[in-house]
Amino acid sequence: MGVIAITGAASGIGAATRALLEDAGHAVVGVDLRDAEILADLATPAGRAAAIGAVLEATGGRLDGLVACAGVGPQVEPRETIVSLNYFGAQALLAGLRAALSNGDDPAAVAVSSNSSTLPGVDTPLVAACLAGNEPEARDIAAALDGTRTYAGSKLALARWVRRSAPGPDWAGSGIRLNAVAPGAVLTPLLQLGLDHPDYGTAIRNFPIPTGGFGEPEQIAAAIAFLLSPAAAFCCGSVLFIDGGTDAMLRPDTF
Ligand code: NAI
Repeated sequence: MGVIAITGAASGIGAATRALLEDAGHAVVGVDLRDAEILADLATPAGRAAAIGAVLEATGGRLDGLVACAGVGPQVEPRETIVSLNYFGAQALLAGLRAALSNGDDPAAVAVSSNSSTLPGVDTPLVAACLAGNEPEARDIAAALDGTRTYAGSKLALARWVRRSAPGPDWAGSGIRLNAVAPGAVLTPLLQLGLDHPDYGTAIRNFPIPTGGFGEPEQIAAAIAFLLSPAAAFCCGSVLFIDGGTDAMLRPDTF
């Protein structure tokens, strides 16, 4: 049984992941704005640094697993917050806790991306600014983009960062497996805010889901728990789509 840190542990997919891992006997250190062992705002550099320091203190610098789950949806304003949390918050925690993972037992990390990352038109300069580590530029670009491209671009950048990093010396070469999940529409408070929004509600409802209906947070938690487990020992840099078939339907030949 291991020690696993989860950002966004207070709600939705993060909370479901926490419950599943705790039921399996793991110790979870939650990081969130509320209802967690460590309270921090991961949309700010100071909040990220405080969160990393607090996780290291709580775990004695040794982690077996990390789930970068905290995020906000495309309707959030200002849009700068979307990119600062969804990309820079996730990437900073993954990078900042990597050394603690290298001290763990069969360590693994999972980033929560999104199937929106493969929508047409989301590969804007925002993605390049994220991957260049240029948060001020990414925030400027986000301020001029729509919420969908900002959200999806932040998730595309995160998936790319995972794929670029996972096989390298810092991750696979240090014995740490790094993977991502790309959920489709999952009924959580985040999705509900989108459904209730005048500009996004109809688009979300009209999004095709071949299996029918929205996903449940527990279905994403199960995939995250698998990627953290020894059963996923051969998974490295995978981006696992869990979306009722939306991505396969929209892009059958691209993978
Ligand atoms: P949620 O709203 O239920 O949970 C998100 C959690 O992140 C909350 O506990 C919230 O307090 C925390 N959080 C928000 N801002 C924060 C900040 N600045 N610092 C620290 N924590 C903060 O949302 P859900 O749906 O569980 O989302 C989890 C992840 O899954 C997000 O990254 C989201 O983008 C991603 N996702 C969700 C999908 C969905 O349809 N629900 C689809 C694809 C991806």
